[in-house]
Amino acid sequence: MCDSHSGVILISHWNVIMLAGLNFATLLLSVAVCQGSQYKDINSETVSVDQGSTYGSLWPLPQQVSLSEVSFKLSSSSFRVVDAEGSSAGPSCNILQNAYRRYYEYLFGNARKTGHFKRKAARSELSELQVSITSGDSDCDGYPGATSDESYELTVDQPYAILKAPKVWGALRGLETFSQLVYEDEYGAKSINSSKIVDFPRFQHRGILLDTSRHFLPIKVILANLEAMAMNKFNVFHWHIVDDPSFPYLSRTFPQLSQMGAYHPYTHVYTPADVKMIIEFARLRGIRVVPEFDTPGHTQSWGKGQKDLLTPCYSGPTPSGTFGPVNPILDTTYDFMNLLFKEVSEVFPDAYVHLGGDEVDFECWKSNPDITKFMEQHSFGDDYSKLESFYIQKLLDIVTSTQKGYMIWQEVFDNGVKLKPDTLIHVWKGNQQQYQNEMAKITLSGYKTFLSTPWYLNRISYGQDWTSLYRADPHNFTGTDDQKKLVIGGEACMWGEYVDSTNLMPRMWPRASAVGERLWSAKDVTDVNDAYSRLSKHRCRMVERGIQAQSLFSSFCRHEYKGI
Ligand SMILES: *[C@@H]1O[C@H](CO)[C@@H](O)[C@H](O)[C@H]1NC(C)=O
Ligand SMILES: *[C@@H]1O[C@H](CO)[C@@H](O)[C@H](O)[C@H]1NC(C)=O
Repeated sequence: MCDSHSGVILISHWNVIMLAGLNFATLLLSVAVCQGSQYKDINSETVSVDQGSTYGSLWPLPQQVSLSEVSFKLSSSSFRVVDAEGSSAGPSCNILQNAYRRYYEYLFGNARKTGHFKRKAARSELSELQVSITSGDSDCDGYPGATSDESYELTVDQPYAILKAPKVWGALRGLETFSQLVYEDEYGAKSINSSKIVDFPRFQHRGILLDTSRHFLPIKVILANLEAMAMNKFNVFHWHIVDDPSFPYLSRTFPQLSQMGAYHPYTHVYTPADVKMIIEFARLRGIRVVPEFDTPGHTQSWGKGQKDLLTPCYSGPTPSGTFGPVNPILDTTYDFMNLLFKEVSEVFPDAYVHLGGDEVDFECWKSNPDITKFMEQHSFGDDYSKLESFYIQKLLDIVTSTQKGYMIWQEVFDNGVKLKPDTLIHVWKGNQQQYQNEMAKITLSGYKTFLSTPWYLNRISYGQDWTSLYRADPHNFTGTDDQKKLVIGGEACMWGEYVDSTNLMPRMWPRASAVGERLWSAKDVTDVNDAYSRLSKHRCRMVERGIQAQSLFSSFCRHEYKGI
């Protein structure tokens, strides 16, 4: 059977022309729709043939790879990952010990479950991967940060393989790469070829945004997504934790915010212990957790638990009973923000918070007579973006006093708010031309920026949309080399209107993987046919590891989901 959604899309593209004028259209429609799914050229971007890649299943592609055809066997009974002699991280380094266990499980967990396989005559065997942290301070007990070193060098040869990295963060990336070099021979035995890899990320900021306000996402799903992020070398979890529909963050200072503002005060909240656990799980995978508390718009849920925080809207001379953005004219607003952001700065160890600032609707402010008076007193005229800037300015000062840096959505820059020079501006609006102009403008003003516009993964369509995600490049705008250096990377966003725990993972993966390679690999890694071959295998690897990554096209995996 063909599915009705594909039908709708096909018709809107071209079938409508073929069918125009036919009066038994309904019958033909269903026929055309079913045939349509067999066309390979529905969308010119479709890649349907795995032509093989000389890079096996590596994803994202490392900066320098040399692979040989000399292969070694890996056996689950003798293979070990160990700390190299002279490494600055030892057995007390949780990050590494945890990762060794995780990657051993990825490599051999499945083989153990499916039991014995026939052994080929013994070939030369690789028995050890030695991991060496080369800088004096391994960062073992620290958190990954905006300037953490993720570089590493991996040499696979006999008698052992060596992974060298200045910091544990690079070792984590190198372990993932090592695991991607391992393949199964026809008997199910694990092998790895002699190889040499030198690797580092092209962009420092490689993020994924999850929205836990429009739908609550259970901890389990957030953790699974962090696992998949590590498999794709992402390093920032942008947690859009609250918004209009619900306030699931349980604040110790203002518990009534989630009591009144969450979908459910016990089941649909993130307790302090939950948040702590997520941050630690992420840290062990070299992933930062950057929380977003978006104001002054997108705050309807905040108003339920915090009286007088939001602006009362008026209908003529009387309050209408509805509320608008945060009320920027009351001192109590800033007292509240001061305490809330003090707590946030203590709960979240990252050096940055995301302050939102997008899509502020001025209609309610315009209706309110007290705000009108305030506008007059401050000579703002009719320019409500000046009032918004007044609010944001005060908020930025509050956050600065907590010693945190901040990220903001592009509107705050567009409205001319005075920003600290180290502000990170998040671009999300417009078409390609518009976001390219925006990146040019921001960097010309000397600010750092990162891109999301082409990477809204909540937008879906029939066919292989990963190719357009893959082609977008944050450096593709008119500007000098110095301007390009101010681009720190990008984020794939998954807004939650139509996404909850039932569909998050398949919608995210492997589409986000395309963004992952764009942000990690060298600029000239752009061959979609080569990418298709590697990504298909990478997707099967994610599936084998228990990630519900959806399929790229007609195909099968040797190990299907849940071990079929
Ligand atoms: C690994 O080596 C085998 C031969 O032993 C070769 O057939 C295969 O193509 C090699 N794989 C890669 C990714 O180089
Ligand atoms: C760069 O952007 C231009 C439009 O400004 C577009 O035509 C071109 O295809 C883009 N190149 C890449 C590699 O994305």
